[in-house]
Amino acid sequence: MKFIIGNWKMNGNNKEKDTMLKALHKIKTKNKIILCLPFTLLNGENFGICLGAQDISEHSNGAYTGDISGEMIKKTGAKYVIVGHSERRLYHHETNEIIHSKAVAAVKNGLIPIICVGETNEEKNAGKTTSVVKKMVSECIPKMGKYIIAYEPRWAIGSGLIPSEKDITKIHKVIFDTLNKIGQEKTPIVYGGSVNAQNAHNISNLPHVDGLLIGGASLKSKTFLPIIDSID
Ligand code: PGA
Repeated sequence: MKFIIGNWKMNGNNKEKDTMLKALHKIKTKNKIILCLPFTLLNGENFGICLGAQDISEHSNGAYTGDISGEMIKKTGAKYVIVGHSERRLYHHETNEIIHSKAVAAVKNGLIPIICVGETNEEKNAGKTTSVVKKMVSECIPKMGKYIIAYEPRWAIGSGLIPSEKDITKIHKVIFDTLNKIGQEKTPIVYGGSVNAQNAHNISNLPHVDGLLIGGASLKSKTFLPIIDSID
């Protein structure tokens, strides 16, 4: 069973959501589909599809204007939440410490955090990918409950560029080894960054790749459904 996770980012409306969920509902797959929507689209009918949020407050309630707590997310019926997406790290200056607190808040509220890790282009060019990713995993994981790790090289997101299959395998093995050392070897590790219907099948079959996190191509059924169909 592979995880196929869509991340709509700041896109979509209720009508588009319903159209997508109805289309996903009709698909026969043994894989687990999760759609991570903007907060405003999380309420309402989910047509049997598992939903997730894209961020969570590290606090449980109080004077945090604009933030959404784990309890609020849980009440919508969502089961997952993305934490530490590179766009949150970049535009909202989220550190590993903040992301760790958010992952803990998710677990405490019965949500499964999808914790994103990945190197920048500069880090890649400086040969730091392995050390950066190891540090992110070690510092961000909640040390309790279930979670998913998403390896998303920042330079691969929305760029049409993807690492070689050899590099994806190498970094997924680094993540697996890091988790294995602490008895978390069953943690799913998914790949994200410019996944499309042409590359999804091969990437999802690489060792230690337990699924995919898909941004742009998850927005429309025309591009999302062929990806789902291509995964065994
Ligand atoms: P992309 O985004 O598939 O559009 O590259 C992936 C992500 O940011 O989760």
